Amino acid sequence: MPDFKRTLITAALPSVNAPLHIGHLAGCYIPADLFARYKRLTGEDVLFICGSDEHGAAITISAEKEGVPPRVVVDRNHALAKSSFEKLGMSFDYYARTSSDVHRETAQAFFLDLYNGGFLVPHDAPQFYDEQAQMFLPDRYVTGTCPVCSNPDARGDQCENCGTYLNQTELINPRSSVTGSKPVVRATKHWYFALSRFQQQLETWIESHQSGWKDNVLQGARSWLKAGLHDRAITRDMTWGIPVPLEGAEGKVLYVWFDAPIGYISATKESLDPINNPGIRYAAEDTADWRTWWQDSETRWIAFLGKDNIVFHTIVFPAMLMAHNESTSVGRAPSPDAPRSGYILPENVPANEFMNLESQKLSKSRGWVIELHEILERYPSDVIRYALATMMPEQKDSDFQWKEFQARINNELADIFGNFANRVLTFASRNFENKIMGNRKELDDAGNALLAAFGVRANEIATLYERFRLREATSETMDLARMANKYFNDAEPWKLAKENKEEAAKVIRTCLEALRALAVYFAPITPTASASIMNTLGHGFTEETWANAHEPKLHGQTELGPIGILFSKIEDEMVESELVRLRTMAVEAAARSGAARGGAARGGAVAAPTAVAKASSDGKGNPAATGSELITIDDFKKIKLRTATVLEAERVPKSKKLIKLQISLGADEKRQIVAGIGEKYAPEDLVGKTIVVVANLQPAKLMGNESNGMLLAVNDAKGVVTIVSPEAEAGLEVR
Ligand code: 2FM
Ligand code: ZN
Repeated sequence: MPDFKRTLITAALPSVNAPLHIGHLAGCYIPADLFARYKRLTGEDVLFICGSDEHGAAITISAEKEGVPPRVVVDRNHALAKSSFEKLGMSFDYYARTSSDVHRETAQAFFLDLYNGGFLVPHDAPQFYDEQAQMFLPDRYVTGTCPVCSNPDARGDQCENCGTYLNQTELINPRSSVTGSKPVVRATKHWYFALSRFQQQLETWIESHQSGWKDNVLQGARSWLKAGLHDRAITRDMTWGIPVPLEGAEGKVLYVWFDAPIGYISATKESLDPINNPGIRYAAEDTADWRTWWQDSETRWIAFLGKDNIVFHTIVFPAMLMAHNESTSVGRAPSPDAPRSGYILPENVPANEFMNLESQKLSKSRGWVIELHEILERYPSDVIRYALATMMPEQKDSDFQWKEFQARINNELADIFGNFANRVLTFASRNFENKIMGNRKELDDAGNALLAAFGVRANEIATLYERFRLREATSETMDLARMANKYFNDAEPWKLAKENKEEAAKVIRTCLEALRALAVYFAPITPTASASIMNTLGHGFTEETWANAHEPKLHGQTELGPIGILFSKIEDEMVESELVRLRTMAVEAAARSGAARGGAARGGAVAAPTAVAKASSDGKGNPAATGSELITIDDFKKIKLRTATVLEAERVPKSKKLIKLQISLGADEKRQIVAGIGEKYAPEDLVGKTIVVVANLQPAKLMGNESNGMLLAVNDAKGVVTIVSPEAEAGLEVR
């Protein structure tokens, strides 16, 4: 095991094609920040890097959907990601963006080093081409049926359903996402990275980590190696991206998965430039040099990322770094970035699995999502951080439930940690003139035992952090607060205060020291609360380390600052409104998705997103292709369409879109349906209209209103809804 002097921590650069959501937080960013904050408390020199990934088809497709240039999308979402991360308390030393000049220069130099080293070879290879749009279709511009799991909406680069990375020409029934047409295959020139040459080296390297890496990560890497590595095209026919720095490569850019990980290196360079990043502090002279962080065997690099990024960080990027090291050590003219001792590889890649939301897969396109910027509007950052730290998918997929969120905050954060702080500070204020009494060297035996136990337990928690078992580290940290409460209860200071004030003072002094230590132990998880406790205690973090936090340090006679409520409880109504919000978003997304497909406005029976799962294409907000599967006449006959007359109509309170309709399907049948047509229609416009409804749809509840059917509507390209209204009487079958 090498001896490390410092730790470089990277968190996957999020693609800013859309806002960040809680799945990203639980999968990557919360664990990365917990670890970085913990590591700094150990006294080690840490550099924590992240930034926006601004290239690739995900961005250009979002931009095309909005009808704006890609620059508009990345500028807006980069600013949103940066500010949301700040509000969440992410302690990045630098948050970069891959559209920077430094990044372009670094990525191009890296490309040239690999090219000059013979690791990038041009080939003419078949690629899908859209004859209507007259363009090649990179990556997710083409969708089709996955050859592995038959998911009909697999993307050209990856099937989100089974996780398989695909070569787009493997897709069955390919469709262009631009025009919906069937693409043709044409040859185009691309540069291929000689990944296959690193099979052996990667196998040896991966197996050298078999005892330290998480099983899910090892399994992911091994399955790739087992399938055998193939050379991969690392350029694309696009204009958005980093131009390929070679003559004759006009109109070609670097593949986003080639340039994005190099972003860690360019972000490091930018972070160490005091003009660029005035907040940066160097622990030692050499840490001001980016090479110290990337090309020194005494640096430990820990790469945090989510499940879908494992292969790029355990196979592709490590091979790129190996190739770079070989390219620049064989006497060719290297770029100014030539390594001193070769690039290091990640020491660990503690990737998490996926987190579901209320038992369903998170999906932006299906509206089944909680975006970071909007949850931050309703809950303090510490609350979000703690809840996610207890629910993150560390060993296997997990599920975010609003009821569990409430229970974690109310029963743990507020009732245990918050309550301890509150009762101790209130006691000191009422009984000891709001001052820290006594002497830190004269605690009672039980008090000394409590703090000694803190020291032992903190050591165990440190081991959990070092092994990336951060969920357990979080629950063990809460146990320390439980121990502190037990000490307070057992010591009964409220009785002592009447009988022996001096003994009571010792107890409260111990409790204040315990509270200070808890502020340190909780600092990675709830940094705002920890800072506020330290503020109240009149004590900073400067003398504190993870290892010495249990030692008494407070100065006697210090006046305590004001006591605020650390964590407010979450009321039942709040949980209820979160669930309503989620379901409403799913209904609205379904209506939009219907619009995108030119289908019915699904104001009706959408209780959960599974009902419309097929309408989405890639789970990241990109449109489904317009081509549709053929059905038989018997399939169609299963759908009972009938004409109906609208008898009454009223808006559903608190919804812009939903209208509740009482309808008549002929003389003896009346029903209530709820439809997402409120943006175009006023209720009074609808009364008396004839509509067409799907009469045999399962009933569903929408914002508490029963819906027994679904009306048909068309949507124009802008998503404006027009209901289908035939000139016919009610109750007729539509065939
Ligand atoms: O999955 C994503 O959002 C990618 N943008 C992650 C890139 S990580 C690194 F390579 F930059
Ligand atoms: Zn699949």
